[in-house]
Amino acid sequence: MGTKFAFFPEQASSFASSVDNFYFFMVALSVFFSVAIFLTLVFFSIKFRRKSATEVPAPFHGGMALELTWTVIPFILVMVMFFWSARLYFTIVTPPAEAVEMWVTGKQWMWKIQHLAGNREINELHVPVGKAVRLTMTSEDVLHDFYIPAFRTKMDVLPGRYTQLWFKATKPGKYHLFCAEYCGNQHSGMIGSVYVMEPQDYEAWLAGAAGQGTLVERGEKLFAELACNNCHRPDGTGRGPNLEGVFAKAVQLESGQKVTADENYIRESILNPQAKVVAGYQGIMPTFQGLVTEDQLVQLIEYIKSLKGGPATGTQSAPSADGV
Ligand code: CUA
Repeated sequence: MGTKFAFFPEQASSFASSVDNFYFFMVALSVFFSVAIFLTLVFFSIKFRRKSATEVPAPFHGGMALELTWTVIPFILVMVMFFWSARLYFTIVTPPAEAVEMWVTGKQWMWKIQHLAGNREINELHVPVGKAVRLTMTSEDVLHDFYIPAFRTKMDVLPGRYTQLWFKATKPGKYHLFCAEYCGNQHSGMIGSVYVMEPQDYEAWLAGAAGQGTLVERGEKLFAELACNNCHRPDGTGRGPNLEGVFAKAVQLESGQKVTADENYIRESILNPQAKVVAGYQGIMPTFQGLVTEDQLVQLIEYIKSLKGGPATGTQSAPSADGV
């Protein structure tokens, strides 16, 4: 992040230059047509000015060639814009399956990050260079927006649900992190730094939290403390469904609907268990609204993700099936 004045932030993610190229294309096109229209307007105003008080211009009935030209050319240009931007959009909203996962909680007025290895940080985000990183984000209060200009990516962070954002940082360094949605009188102070590190430095940094317990381990502890394991038993004899291997799978509901057991579904099932009851079970689970924090919900979700029908598998987790 040099100190010299720049119109654009540094390009530091895999899709940053593609976003800029598209932006420059749009700007160039807009400038070209603005100038062309303005010059044509001036030229015709002079050329076809009224030369005498009694002058009556000859009627003009247009021409097919001209009509086609100014229909077909703009059509081609907007189609180029459409397909180019759609491709870019799908790249930006589709995290690769092998992405490293991290969790973000926004609140007035800070960013809290949890890493699978157990590291937690506030207003700082440490990531490895050259690796795709997927952030799953929620808010404890109002709408925020997670924005890293150097990566050319941003995503709304909403209370009550998870949204995702991904990037692959390409240059080690320190980059700005902003909240890009007005969220109260200290919105402008809801800022932080992203530290892009060489993979070995990142591993060393991650190891700094050793002993605090991974998210899965914390989730497992919480699962027992909240007595979730009384009903959700691995042998399927409990009053609640067995949660082993459920993550990212389709779940048949009592209502006849089918849903995918993704992060949002698990979150809802903990906070509002009556909303989507699994077929064959009664809606008797109490709500845990107010009893678990957003950070703890993340730990429970990671624990449930880790249940694969065998013993807990550490920080491993299945790639999300829903993509976005
Ligand atoms: Cu959070 Cu603006």
